[in-house]
Amino acid sequence: MSLVAAPMAAVVDLATSAQLQQATMEVEEEAKAEQQQESYSSILLMKGVRHLSDSGITRLPDRYVLPAPDRPDAGAGHDGLATTTTSVVKVKLPVVDLARLRDPSQRAAVLQTLDAACRGYGFFQVVNHGVDGDVIAGMLDVARRFFELPLPERARYMSPDVRAAVRYGTSFNQAKDAVLCWRDFLKLACHPLRDVVASWPREPTDLRDVASRYAAASHGLFMELMEAALQALLGMAAAAGVLGELAAASSHMMTVNCYPACPQPELTLGMPAHSDYGLFTLVLQDHVEGLQVMHAGRWLTVDPIPGAFVVNVGDHLEILSNGAYKSVLHRVRVNSTRPRMSVASFHSLPAERVVGPAPELVDEAAGKPRRYMDTDFATFLAYLASADGKDKTFLQSRMLLHDHDHDHDHCAAASILRPSN
Ligand code: OGA
Ligand code: NI
Repeated sequence: MSLVAAPMAAVVDLATSAQLQQATMEVEEEAKAEQQQESYSSILLMKGVRHLSDSGITRLPDRYVLPAPDRPDAGAGHDGLATTTTSVVKVKLPVVDLARLRDPSQRAAVLQTLDAACRGYGFFQVVNHGVDGDVIAGMLDVARRFFELPLPERARYMSPDVRAAVRYGTSFNQAKDAVLCWRDFLKLACHPLRDVVASWPREPTDLRDVASRYAAASHGLFMELMEAALQALLGMAAAAGVLGELAAASSHMMTVNCYPACPQPELTLGMPAHSDYGLFTLVLQDHVEGLQVMHAGRWLTVDPIPGAFVVNVGDHLEILSNGAYKSVLHRVRVNSTRPRMSVASFHSLPAERVVGPAPELVDEAAGKPRRYMDTDFATFLAYLASADGKDKTFLQSRMLLHDHDHDHDHCAAASILRPSN
């Protein structure tokens, strides 16, 4: 519409009313054409990025172009100065071997690895987890087939309600996002599993069966990792309380992410810098790299280990650990040749549970002050609705005391900070 304003000003200068009428008509025609184009492009946008990618476009539509400082190669150095670099720094994340964790003679050593990973990177990979290879391969396969369904079948699950139990869409919230992200997604509520499965997509016909097996395996792994993390953090006795609560009730959301090949990957992101909301997130990625982790002021690209899970500490675990474990920023880059899929499982305590630092970790007299305010889902929603989201992560908005380096990493990223849901 901004194009219309300039010709209108010129029109007023024209001498005769006939000319004026003619010019007005032209302007109206132009506005109509523009409107048509706008609704055409919003239909395209609604169809998502897979459709755009398949249509063979060679230029990224404007709605996906990030402002220069937020683009993937405009990194911020640890000194806060923007630096431009196209070199990709890869990282092999610490590996937590579950076969060794389950071996009583090796458990202590693995707990140490896990503890160090949660304090340092906030990320690790899990191998020898025992989840059936068919369940893992089946999950990625059925996810791929879901995104290949005709649009009307997928569109049944579109919803503007970000809390819907099933939600298919593109970017995060296509109606609201100022700049769109290069991803399509299917979000499934997974708790309580037996009750929610009936609301999941009915096509592909094996989706409910395959995805519910995968969700159950992910939950089992989460419980095992939480037990280990709490044991390392608090000791067995103190860990029992939270573990008992989790065994009784928890929250579990699963997001299947589809990142098609992108014509201009240097101008956009599959997912902007964010930290995750829960305790642990378990990510299953295919063989295509794209996930990047913020570490000491730099973006590091995670080298995928086939069949492994990438696990990261979420905001709740950082708060529960009173800052010992780090919920770090991460994002997803896309590329021009290879589509990528991932399945992220977000696990936590029930939404209404208030999360604060574990009392065992707070001792003012011993120089261990409480570093975070208590928080719950309502606080999170209030944060989303407030202006804070523009320059602070949710985690920063809950901090009472600031750990300078970590805080800096949370600021150093792009100005778009979004929760992963
Ligand atoms: C997420 C996320 C990473 C990925 O869904 O929160 O960070 O590789 N996903 O898709
Ligand atoms: Ni995430």
